[in-house]
Amino acid sequence: MANARVTVHPEARIDRIEPEVHGHFSEHLGRCVYDGLWTDDVANEDGFREDVLELLADLDIPVLRWPGGCFADDYHWEDGVGPREERPRRRNLFWAQGREDVPEESNAFGTDEFLELCEKIGTEPYLAANVGSGDPQEAADWMEYCSYDGDTELADRRRENGHEEPYEVPYWGVGNENWGCGGQMSPEQYAREFRRFATYMGSMDNLMLDYDVELIACGFEGHEWNRRFMEEVASGRWGVDFPLDHLTLHHYYGRGMTVSESDEDDYDELLVDALEMEEHIERIASTIDAVATTRDIGVIVDEWGTWHTEAVPENGLEQPGTVLDALSAAAVLDVFNHNADVMTMSNIAQTVNVLQCLIETEGDDAWARPTYRVFDLYAPHKGNEAITTSVDTPEREVERTDDDLPLVGASASVADDGETYVTVTNLDCRGSHSIEVAIEGEDTSSEDIDAQVLFEGQDPDLEVDASNADEFAADDLDVDVDGDVLTVDLAPSTVAGISIE
Ligand code: AHR
Repeated sequence: MANARVTVHPEARIDRIEPEVHGHFSEHLGRCVYDGLWTDDVANEDGFREDVLELLADLDIPVLRWPGGCFADDYHWEDGVGPREERPRRRNLFWAQGREDVPEESNAFGTDEFLELCEKIGTEPYLAANVGSGDPQEAADWMEYCSYDGDTELADRRRENGHEEPYEVPYWGVGNENWGCGGQMSPEQYAREFRRFATYMGSMDNLMLDYDVELIACGFEGHEWNRRFMEEVASGRWGVDFPLDHLTLHHYYGRGMTVSESDEDDYDELLVDALEMEEHIERIASTIDAVATTRDIGVIVDEWGTWHTEAVPENGLEQPGTVLDALSAAAVLDVFNHNADVMTMSNIAQTVNVLQCLIETEGDDAWARPTYRVFDLYAPHKGNEAITTSVDTPEREVERTDDDLPLVGASASVADDGETYVTVTNLDCRGSHSIEVAIEGEDTSSEDIDAQVLFEGQDPDLEVDASNADEFAADDLDVDVDGDVLTVDLAPSTVAGISIE
């Protein structure tokens, strides 16, 4: 007997799920870039780690944000171009906090290496310019170096460095967390800086580049901050017609949880915190709507994921990779699908070895964490049209939060060829759920149905490593078809993808 029901409403289309919503973030922090992406110590292709390249290429990631994070507002791009042996070593101010061994930046991996990486794995680059300790000239010069096709000193420098053709970098971030590590600015102060930077970066876009650049402002989780920022930006001479294409927020959760000591109550709390993403997106979208009445400004969540007690600056923000983290990613990707009408991108933190990374490395080994499996399972949604789902689910009261945890979640989308894809999560670590899935107005009994499930029989907090990573791959899932209703039985802490052709 089913105890939860997912109804898909094909007529209630939300919007296209931008592929960029499955984007990633890599910062010069801990072992993300050095060791994770770039190394001489194991098999590599001109410095790029082969095993990681392969895993990234297989996932077909649409966009990658770099070089930070907090690192970005203490980074000067010219340090990282030209002959590698001549690049200066620098200290890294932000990630030195709490450490005795102040991390130094060799600058061996710089702009050309990052953009080559993007070419190799077929992903769009998103560069974050330095607002905190940099200036608009430096940001505009960086754009010119990367993407100008004319006859200037900076464009020629790129050519001398081996890149005849401009890279055409589409996404440019104007600072990072400028309310915090990026300069401790008030919303009004950041808004003025944003206008100043956008004047020059926007002119580069309009006057010198042969393609459209999208400028991204770094917002906050708090509604009030974003409102004050937007109003101050709009108070300039351009009004709301400033070159601002996307406003971002960052949402980390699970900060109070130590994975190695966690229990079932912690799991529930973590998932409630992850689902708060819905509220953050709705709030930032309504702030944008209220101020930018004549402009489309997208919402980007350009840092998100779990941040557990184990991840501290001293260990380069490394933490165990678990099924529980992966489940939270599934819940968040469902939220992004529900908000496809406003979401233009997201970037999970971070790609390799840091926080909720998808890939982990140790010596010669590189493996996919459970979160990687979730991104793979959700990949068919990319580029589809999101459709509304309603979920009738049991809930659990989570004492330490003000919210109840819905134990079953879902989202759905439809491809151009009419194939429907539904993802269903059992967020309940204590029990199985039998879930009916019905597509309103459609008899699914004659359709081709294919379903896969992740994490059946796995411990939610077991640390995944090179020795057991393969056990987390997807399995086939039985679907019971009865007229227009499909039923799936989902074991505790599992996630399923069902395609209906
Ligand atoms: O992803 C780690 C850090 O978290 C980033 O550098 C910063 O932007 C955020 O606070």
